[in-house]
Amino acid sequence: MVFRGIVTVMGLSIPSFQFNLDNLLIRKCRFEDIGGVIYVNRKTLPENYSEYLFLSMFRVFRDIFFVAIDKSSGQVIGYCMNKIEENARSFFYNRNVKKGHVFSLGVLKGYRRRGIASALLALSMDAMFMMGCDEIFLEVRVSNKPAQNLYFKFNYDIVARVPHYYADGEDAFVMATEKRRCEYIVDQVVSYIRRQGIYVE
Ligand code: COA
Repeated sequence: MVFRGIVTVMGLSIPSFQFNLDNLLIRKCRFEDIGGVIYVNRKTLPENYSEYLFLSMFRVFRDIFFVAIDKSSGQVIGYCMNKIEENARSFFYNRNVKKGHVFSLGVLKGYRRRGIASALLALSMDAMFMMGCDEIFLEVRVSNKPAQNLYFKFNYDIVARVPHYYADGEDAFVMATEKRRCEYIVDQVVSYIRRQGIYVE
């Protein structure tokens, strides 16, 4: 599926997405997926959390924790793990809001550039908005341009830079968006994934 170019509809710009999600399914994470999620995490990111952390996130936030699975092998090949922060300071207004936090996202190397992270992120954002989040944010390495490009497509802005955020001393950008600025993009991606039967309840 392709949304071509940056299309402007009623003042809203819609980025282009090219999906190749053949032979994949995406669903909420199940207990038996945790080992696969940890494998993908170890292969894709230097931030390797403990098994306890993954299990705790699963216990508390399983409704906003998504995995992509290769149907041929049954292997987890990507995940997006998220959390919710109640009554937190808004990035955009002088008030407190409910925030969704994209905590960890990774797709195995051989599966990249097929729209899998876009699909996982859109489903995660949709689920967090459904749970009442007003804003969604994340931290990303200042050097991680691929991930930043992904977030820019969903209308995230860089709202802060945190010096030495990562264990190796690299700074993080905090990127954030709010519902009204991105829900039309999220809706389009989620509708496509549901129509194609890639998302399994
Ligand atoms: N270079 C530049 N932009 C890139 C990119 C790359 N190598 N990979 C992805 N992007 C951007 C592009 O804008 C892309 O849209 P396009 O293909 O239409 O140009 C957009 O992201 C969406 O790509 P998508 O196919 O959905 O992403 P993916 O499934 O390849 O996964 C990551 C992207 C970042 C999750 C993946 O590269 C990864 O797992 N990286 C290591 C872990 C990581 O950095 N996680 C995020 C931490 S904050």
